[in-house]
Amino acid sequence: MALTILHGTIISSPAPGKLDITPGGYLIAEDGRIRSVYAALPECYAGAPVEEYGEALILPAFCDLHLHAPQYPMLGTGMDLPLLDWLNTYTFPAEARFADPDYARDVYRKLAAELIENGTTRVCMFSSLHTEATWILMEELERAGVTGYVGKVNMDRNGLPGVLQEETAESIRETERWLERCGDFTHVHPILTPRFTPSCTDELMAWLGRKAAETGLPIQSHLSENDREVAWVRELHPDCDQYWESYRKFGLWNARTLMAHCVWSDARERDAMRKAGVTVVHCPDSNVNVCSGTAPIRAMLQEGLKVALGTDIAGGDHISMFDAVTAAIRASKVRQMTDPARPDFLTVAEAWYLGTSAGAAFFGDAPGFAPGNALHAIVLSDDDLPQSHPLSPAERLERCMYRRQKDALRAVWSDGRKVYTGR
Ligand code: GUN
Ligand code: FE
Repeated sequence: MALTILHGTIISSPAPGKLDITPGGYLIAEDGRIRSVYAALPECYAGAPVEEYGEALILPAFCDLHLHAPQYPMLGTGMDLPLLDWLNTYTFPAEARFADPDYARDVYRKLAAELIENGTTRVCMFSSLHTEATWILMEELERAGVTGYVGKVNMDRNGLPGVLQEETAESIRETERWLERCGDFTHVHPILTPRFTPSCTDELMAWLGRKAAETGLPIQSHLSENDREVAWVRELHPDCDQYWESYRKFGLWNARTLMAHCVWSDARERDAMRKAGVTVVHCPDSNVNVCSGTAPIRAMLQEGLKVALGTDIAGGDHISMFDAVTAAIRASKVRQMTDPARPDFLTVAEAWYLGTSAGAAFFGDAPGFAPGNALHAIVLSDDDLPQSHPLSPAERLERCMYRRQKDALRAVWSDGRKVYTGR
């Protein structure tokens, strides 16, 4: 049996806004599965090797539930247009380059390494429409130790014909071909990925819905991100009262569905998400960058929706989930200042829950470092940062989200494997 024992200041979040804190604690995993967190080393482990981290923070690794791998090369550029113009002008041409497998290999190797260096070990990721590049992405994630779901994008209308768009039959054929090789991967699995309603014909959506029913594969897409997009979907689907119905009518709306953004989801649309068990992926950084808005996250949490966090690179300009957590807090403050209902803004513990435990739920884990969960953990040092007063573990966590000392990351575990050792 492979035994892992980590000793340090252990913090995890068992519920929104709650922190479990064990200073000088032991996080123990057997064969990559968490046994428990202990305040003192249990007798039965006496003499076993311990990874000693002193006062350093031992935290769950992050889950990024929405990002676009082929947009990684454009990160930090093209921030001067709203969503639909941004897609046509920058994004679609950038994704078209992934017809070249060598380019894909080079970019995706860098992306996978940077995710691990930022403590992200679980993802739900969009690839491009290219089958080969999608396999390469899955290979490179596996090699680096990133786990989760990757989707070959489906888009057979309203792309850039001749540059980035499929024929319907081609999209179906290529999705089948892509899925045939997905069984070769151990830690990265397929997720059906209609880009968003405007990108997919009814025929393609209906096929994807049948595929989802037949295979039980999860589904990811975009919903109610931007006002012009919402109006466009209304024109494309006059039979649907609301955007979400354009997914439901094709069987793409269930408890294994992730919907990114949901900035403009009103009470009725939110109720439909809650009833179906759809997970909202909040992408606060991107929502500001491409002029979408600030999502009603407090209302969603109060109503009992499942909400997780995504960086949405390259609509989001940060690959780091540390930044997604603080962006979620900032966005919630803007929402409070602009929403007549004056919803409470998110606390650090709430936003951090969304970036860790809430995301992990999509992978079947219980919140926090619960027994039985796969070991996904990061170790962070903050001992070089000056303190105005002796900081509590919760204050140290807050500061580590907003500000990291150089080389803060000391180690990363992903699905029980140590995949990164810092300097
Ligand atoms: N809607 C459809 N495609 C995209 C995309 O690539 N990024 C974002 N933010 N929204 C989208
Ligand atoms: Fe997106």
